Amino acid sequence: MSAHPLVPFSPPSGIGPFHIRPASEDDLPALFRLDTELFPHFAYPYFVLRQLFDVYTDHLLVLDDGSSLHGYALSAPSPDGRRSWILGLGVAKQLRGQGLARGLMLETLRRLPIGGVHEVWLTVEPANTAAIALYRSLGFAEQGVRKDYFGPGDDRLLLALRH
Ligand SMILES: CC(C)(COP(=O)(O)OP(=O)(O)OC[C@H]1O[C@@H](n2cnc3c(N)ncnc32)[C@H](O)[C@@H]1OP(=O)(O)O)[C@@H](O)C(=O)NCCC(=O)NCCS
Repeated sequence: MSAHPLVPFSPPSGIGPFHIRPASEDDLPALFRLDTELFPHFAYPYFVLRQLFDVYTDHLLVLDDGSSLHGYALSAPSPDGRRSWILGLGVAKQLRGQGLARGLMLETLRRLPIGGVHEVWLTVEPANTAAIALYRSLGFAEQGVRKDYFGPGDDRLLLALRH
């Protein structure tokens, strides 16, 4: 159980109220639908999402308005706690541009194991200017494009945040 299970989150635009909290098992069907909307070509199969939930329970955060899920962030600390990967981040289309992804990322970074993690890594599609701007604004630095990172034709830009 996390020490901070439920975080009220009010974006600057005043919409909401939202909570950022670790996903529960009951969230998985809605999270699967949301992920499929967010990443039509790269959504996690249900069984992979399930297993990610089992392994990274406290690091799978959802954005909740009390009745449905509107975003999520998934991070994966390495076993030695020195490096963490951000594996997923997304906000429902109709709620974008209001600071919700920034809120999810800030809460994700806040929850990383204290004292252990020195680097946070992630990959992003090189043309995803919105996500890249967000990551840069949080201090992530570009580490170069890796060709065919997710298979033929699916290049990815790597970014890292070093403490
Ligand atoms: C990328 C994504 C998560 C951003 O979510 P969001 O809630 O709209 O982002 P926020 O409102 O918190 O914006 C945070 C910052 O992102 C950047 N940003 C967001 N939308 C942007 C846009 N359309 N163009 C340029 N920069 C943008 C800005 O730097 C912004 O900060 P600012 O408002 O101070 O200028 C969202 O577009 C999304 O879910 N896309 C589909 C899934 C995806 O691509 N995920 C990232 C995978 S690596």
